[in-house]
Amino acid sequence: MTNCCEKTILHGNVTVGDNGLLRFAGVDTADLAAKYGTPLYLFDTDRIRERCKLYQSEMKAAFGGDSRPLYAGKAFCTKAIYRIMAECGMSVDLVSPGELFTAKSAGFPMERAFFHGNNKTDADIALALDAGVGCFVCDSREELVALDRIAGERGVCQKILLRVTPGIDPHTFAAVTTGKVDSKFGSPIATGAALELAKLALSLEHIDLDGFHCHIGSQIFDVTPYVDASNVMLSFIKDVKDATGFTAKTLNLGGGFGVRYTESDPEFDYAEAIKALAKAVKEAAQSNGLPTPTVLLEPGRSIVADAGMTLYTVGTVKEIPGFRTYVSVDGGMPDNPRYALYRSVYTVVNATHADKAPDRAVTVAGRCCESGDLIAEGARIATPVRGDLLAVLVTGAYNYSMASNYNRIPRPPVVFLSEGKDALAVRRESFEDLVRNDL
Ligand code: LLP
Repeated sequence: MTNCCEKTILHGNVTVGDNGLLRFAGVDTADLAAKYGTPLYLFDTDRIRERCKLYQSEMKAAFGGDSRPLYAGKAFCTKAIYRIMAECGMSVDLVSPGELFTAKSAGFPMERAFFHGNNKTDADIALALDAGVGCFVCDSREELVALDRIAGERGVCQKILLRVTPGIDPHTFAAVTTGKVDSKFGSPIATGAALELAKLALSLEHIDLDGFHCHIGSQIFDVTPYVDASNVMLSFIKDVKDATGFTAKTLNLGGGFGVRYTESDPEFDYAEAIKALAKAVKEAAQSNGLPTPTVLLEPGRSIVADAGMTLYTVGTVKEIPGFRTYVSVDGGMPDNPRYALYRSVYTVVNATHADKAPDRAVTVAGRCCESGDLIAEGARIATPVRGDLLAVLVTGAYNYSMASNYNRIPRPPVVFLSEGKDALAVRRESFEDLVRNDL
């Protein structure tokens, strides 16, 4: 839908119309705001499908066999996204019984689901077994023992991957670093705990160990830590083989490829990264005398982030001379907690005057009773007035999925855009919804 001569902002799906209004995925944002109200989450689903295809075709070409991406639904989880994933032939990573229920309710084929979680309860395990989840990603001794027992009660043998920590620090922000030895996730290879758990898994009657999993972190722009992790993982697979005779068939290297949020972030070439990773995995397999395993990746952010945008309406514009200009919008940390939590930087555009050059550095504030309720600081935009639309770009990942009702603010609706058409994917929460469970 994007005309080749249109001006784009940050990504090809964000353009400026002849009328000066911001367009997203070929659709006028002002029309969408008028139809659905603000705040409003928008998703360019054509872009999501393209990313799925890119991961699928590049992984098939580079690794061969059954190697494939699993969409990590924690980035953005709704029934509608699982319907898209089902149509695209994707597998998925589910991290909680709630995500599992969402995927199942959408009719997602459960044999293509991988069930994660560092502390699955017996009830979670039973729910996943009864749903027919294809593979568990087991995190601990306690989980292995419980899964063996609960699978035994059902007379089934459950396929699993064992989550281990390779001891790699990808140098991303600490809150999303997960592959170091000191982690609540998985068992460390370095201490020998991972090998002991592999032996335990192999000894259990109702568990079918298929291979190993690791995830080193998120928002990573360099393939080197993945290459390092795959070297550690293949030498671990060799150690397990030497100790037990078992050769892992599957190696899941997790998610985490980076996404461009602002002009200062690099462009990440996913296809090149997959090719480099495949070369490293094949070489490491060969040097350890192992067959090349089936490789899985678990992208979340890089499937949905730049397919998303949030639209707000500007309310108060308060200039405090010598300090800053606060631009308050009708959303905030309840729909996007990432600045408050991680100081994550976003690109902000005055969508009503997208043709005007940014002339003011502003602090975009939300409407919560909390001074840390900010979306951006130092954002350069065309000076807004009450009623202008503000667009925050690249909000497709970890915004809706991390949204809350803090201050009893209802969550915004989600609208999907495809081939120039809009369709509601999640209704706006009502005040009635907010009190639904209150007695
Ligand atoms: N696989 C596992 C086991 C994970 O823990 C994660 C993310 C992923 C895959 C997907 O990673 P991605 O491709 O999306 O980077 N709330 C944080 C991000 C937390 C990521 C947690 N795990 C944020 O807003 O940045």
